[in-house]
Amino acid sequence: MKKLFLLFALMLSPVFALASGGGGCGAVHCEKAPVDLHNKESLQNGAKVFISYCLGCHSAKYLRYERMAQDLEIDPKLVEEYMMFTTDKIGDGMDPKTNKKDQAKWFGNAPPDLSLETRLRSPDWVYTYLLNFYPDDKRPWGVNNRVFKDVAMPHVLDSLEQELGPEGYEEAVGDLVNFMTYMAEPSRTDRESLGIWVLLFLAIMFVPVYLLNKEYWKDVK
Ligand code: HEC
Repeated sequence: MKKLFLLFALMLSPVFALASGGGGCGAVHCEKAPVDLHNKESLQNGAKVFISYCLGCHSAKYLRYERMAQDLEIDPKLVEEYMMFTTDKIGDGMDPKTNKKDQAKWFGNAPPDLSLETRLRSPDWVYTYLLNFYPDDKRPWGVNNRVFKDVAMPHVLDSLEQELGPEGYEEAVGDLVNFMTYMAEPSRTDRESLGIWVLLFLAIMFVPVYLLNKEYWKDVK
């Protein structure tokens, strides 16, 4: 009985780990990122923001342009024409091939690859991070961050924030983080829909297996 309880607790532990969020967001509470991997419009908008504002410094080399075009239902011709400034091959990953050493010199720290960032930190962390830059004269770029103290990254979305105002900006950052969550695991929606079929299959199989089991044991008992 004790063993059974232990096993049960062990099975539930990842749920608790997930619920507690793991980590926290520096000096502020983590805000909930509006992740919805089925919202194609939001993902497309997020891809636009990511490619225009982040890919100049960061790579996302595990996501191929072709895969993104397929998953996000963007015409590959449009992707080739407007989104692929790091390469001319649609099968390539998003890699601006920046010089890490130069970047480390310019910024103090090199901008890391962001392919898996939302899995590393959590979508809520990235969302809260992007919403928490504030002016600070003591820092080289004149900004600091409440989630990532003394971060070496400038507030690159400043112009977008001015342009869209607080609400529009929050929404754009939401789309961006939604896209980054997709990017960290492009096959998640496939896997989820596959999962439903697997469960359905198991549920249907249960009936004959149960009856068969009863049939076998009938004579033994
Ligand atoms: C001008 C170059 C530059 C641009 C453009 C830029 N970043 Fe950064 N970013 C950096 C640098 C440099 C760091 C490393 C900061 C450090 O370690 O102190 C960084 C760090 C980060 C981190 C934290 C990584 C970690 O977990 O340590 C995230 C998240 C991030 N950037 C997201 C973005 C997003 C999203 C965009 C686009 C909206 C973006 N960045 C655009 C330079 C840039």
